Amino acid sequence: MTSKKFINVQDYRKGAKRVLPAPVFHYLEGGADDEITLRENTAAFDRYTFDPRVLVDIEKISLRKRVLGCDLAMPLILSPTGMSRLFSHERELGAARAARNAGLMYSLSTMGTTSIEDIAGATDLKMFQIYIVKDRGLTREHVARCREAGYNAICLTVDTPVAGNRERDLRTGFTMPPRFSPSTFLSFAIRPEWSLRLLTDSNFRFANIDHRVDAIGDGVTSVIEYVNGQFDRTVTWRDVEWLAAEWGGPLAIKGLVTADDAAAARDAGASAVMVSNHGGRQLDGAPAPIDCVPRIRDRVGSALEIIVDGGVRRGAHIAKALALGADACSVGRPYLWGLSVGGQAGVEHILEILRKEMETTLALLGCQDVDNLNASHICDVEGIVPTSMLGVSPAKAMSAANGL
Ligand SMILES: Cc1cc2nc3c(=O)[nH]c(=O)nc-3n(C[C@H](O)[C@H](O)[C@H](O)COP(=O)(O)O)c2cc1C
Repeated sequence: MTSKKFINVQDYRKGAKRVLPAPVFHYLEGGADDEITLRENTAAFDRYTFDPRVLVDIEKISLRKRVLGCDLAMPLILSPTGMSRLFSHERELGAARAARNAGLMYSLSTMGTTSIEDIAGATDLKMFQIYIVKDRGLTREHVARCREAGYNAICLTVDTPVAGNRERDLRTGFTMPPRFSPSTFLSFAIRPEWSLRLLTDSNFRFANIDHRVDAIGDGVTSVIEYVNGQFDRTVTWRDVEWLAAEWGGPLAIKGLVTADDAAAARDAGASAVMVSNHGGRQLDGAPAPIDCVPRIRDRVGSALEIIVDGGVRRGAHIAKALALGADACSVGRPYLWGLSVGGQAGVEHILEILRKEMETTLALLGCQDVDNLNASHICDVEGIVPTSMLGVSPAKAMSAANGL
């Protein structure tokens, strides 16, 4: 996976387009409506430029970071993404093993094609992405299984009370599991390697929910029918309080972008927020997560860890996010591109690319330790970050924001 063709994360995007049938690639790639938020997520990073220091001893650079009670080799987490079997027969296991080898945390989606227990057998650093669904018995069961399997954290996704409008899927005829039809036949036929795997090793099951279809009965006959019926529009912060008490460990709320919601997450018992718009797949017009970090940090101080999720494609993006007040970043599409191209090895290479880029960025910034990144490393931050954060490390800024 270290061939000259794959030098950066975007090279893997092009590679994924070459190996996946069009309906699958566009499912991976697509955003909601006009994909304005999808584009903005990455574009927003470009509007921040660095203020580097020179003639600093950068012989040793530390990327290590403690997040969600875990020591990570760098401030990066693999975001939860559903249905990895679509992208590789190695499924979620390929990504989880790559994360383990890189010393990073893997997040398993409720909509995964691998079980909670199988992921637990593959890595020590693991988070489960949960939904509070109408079938509260399922949510309770997931919490119990995560506790039993030794998960480090749970993240609750809150930006999906209804499914986003992803028009690419309507145009390409995407289905799960994928189905050959007159309209999709050609796209599968020109990707014979992928399609052959579909026939010989299907394994397209929602491994953590399909047993509930039988359990709840109620005339529901398929997993998709079950899932579609499970979005609960009545979920509120009261339910988050319930989940925090039920789980009792590190809990991140994933999919909020405002300071008010971050404060509500803190008050409901969360220990972290994943500032995220679901990779532009839900509300089109939602702001880029990176732009939301300073005001959230200003509001919650040190009470919450902040993880930025959406549009991260470079090690320099992670450095910018930390300088603006985040504790870590999280990526979805980048590791799925790696998984599509090369399974576990592809994900390992993606994570190594991001690690090297981040190390180079810190060296060129004259910053020896990720914990020392702060707003003074970003140009013209007046008006972007609160004055309490100027020129001081996030830790000090957090104390200042808390009035400590
Ligand atoms: C194919 C795909 C599937 C996803 N599935 C889920 C999911 O099941 N649960 C969830 O909370 N987020 C899901 N997400 C959103 C990711 O967790 C993450 O927020 C997003 O990918 C970050 O943006 P990025 O792809 O630009 O890195 C999914 C994203 C993609 C691309």
